[in-house]
Amino acid sequence: MASRDDIVFGAWDVYPQNAYQAAMYAQVLDEKDIAPVRQELEQIVPMTAAFDRNYVKRIDGSNVKAPLSSTNTIPTRWQMVEMLRDDIRRFRREHGCSRIVVLWAASTEIYVPVDEQVHYRLEDLEAAMQADDRRRVAPSMCYAYAALREGCPFIMGAPNTTVDIPAMWQLAAACGVPISGKDFKTGQTLVKSGFAPIISTRCLALDGWFSTNILGNRDGLVLDEPENFHTKEVSKLSTLETILDGSRQPELYGDYYHKVRINYYPPRNDNKESWDNIDLRGWLDYPMQVKINFLCRDSILAAPVALDLCLLSDLAARAGCSGTQCWLSFFLKSPMHDYTRGEQPVNHLYQQYTMLKNKLRELGGYAADEAMD
Ligand SMILES: NC(=O)c1ccc[n+]([C@@H]2O[C@H](COP(=O)([O-])OP(=O)(O)OC[C@H]3O[C@@H](n4cnc5c(N)ncnc54)[C@H](O)[C@@H]3O)[C@@H](O)[C@H]2O)c1
Repeated sequence: MASRDDIVFGAWDVYPQNAYQAAMYAQVLDEKDIAPVRQELEQIVPMTAAFDRNYVKRIDGSNVKAPLSSTNTIPTRWQMVEMLRDDIRRFRREHGCSRIVVLWAASTEIYVPVDEQVHYRLEDLEAAMQADDRRRVAPSMCYAYAALREGCPFIMGAPNTTVDIPAMWQLAAACGVPISGKDFKTGQTLVKSGFAPIISTRCLALDGWFSTNILGNRDGLVLDEPENFHTKEVSKLSTLETILDGSRQPELYGDYYHKVRINYYPPRNDNKESWDNIDLRGWLDYPMQVKINFLCRDSILAAPVALDLCLLSDLAARAGCSGTQCWLSFFLKSPMHDYTRGEQPVNHLYQQYTMLKNKLRELGGYAADEAMD
């Protein structure tokens, strides 16, 4: 595994503030925890973002890539790809990096439904980028495409569809690099994927699961826009489907109501609070309820997940793994899977943990020591 002392961090962002200024603005960490690394943080100045405001309407910074012609307000999708590839090459050169991992921890974009005509074959995706198809090619796809073409593993930390399309799987395989996604599993969904197995293993019936959140940081502001929230909603709703499986046990899970809400509430900033109400039925159909109230901290939960995903993706690349890395599902809310072949994602937290440990053993040259159910 790469040593943390050997890592150099870089970033793109729509806002020009360096990492020290961004950390002070975010108010996640106390100044006493930021001050000792102030100089290192000040060195991390974001590169200009490949940004299309139609995808994230609630933010509007100035640190964005300029169009190459006066008839456009933003670069075309293909120009974005080329500019991002230049950024990666320059960063590699200037910092003397032997390897790079690219992780998307940028805003949740509006929902881009998978479109067979553009997203199923690599050549169709490339043609759409060259034709500047802004509706079906999100800026995040340009980042992923650029990273993979530059031989860098790519991780999607937001719920965007970006690499959850066959064209990107083909590209990752062709370039021989790992991809993973999507959406960091940090707060409410972590609890959900850990608690739902209690219900299924005891064969309790589920009538409904209502999840709501309040959140006041910039992520909360972006998700306050319905089109952006829809991307998150699809990701959060998918968690229960394969743990409480109505097709296998219709009498228990054939007809439950699952609702997820996120409410923007600035006074809480990064300190997110989630409530879950679970309506269950036990023996002889007697009803019961479980209430979970998690007062968490969004970034405190997410930062180690982001770092682990980078280190493990780098390890996977060095071990010669390419394409979708299902064993990283432990860290992800809506794990990638080949839906074109009817493959089911693994959402069950303890199965995901077994997959993670088994893969690490395999990469270390040991036999898997735990069987999956
Ligand atoms: N617990 C968590 O923090 C958590 C959990 C799961 C998923 N996520 C997802 O991770 C992402 C980041 O969360 P956050 O709380 O750090 O959000 P944030 O709003 O604090 O930071 C996102 C940054 O991305 C920038 N950005 C937007 N579009 C960009 C683009 N095209 N290129 C470059 N920069 C761009 C924005 O300017 C912003 O500064 C979100 O999509 C969020 O839903 C976070």
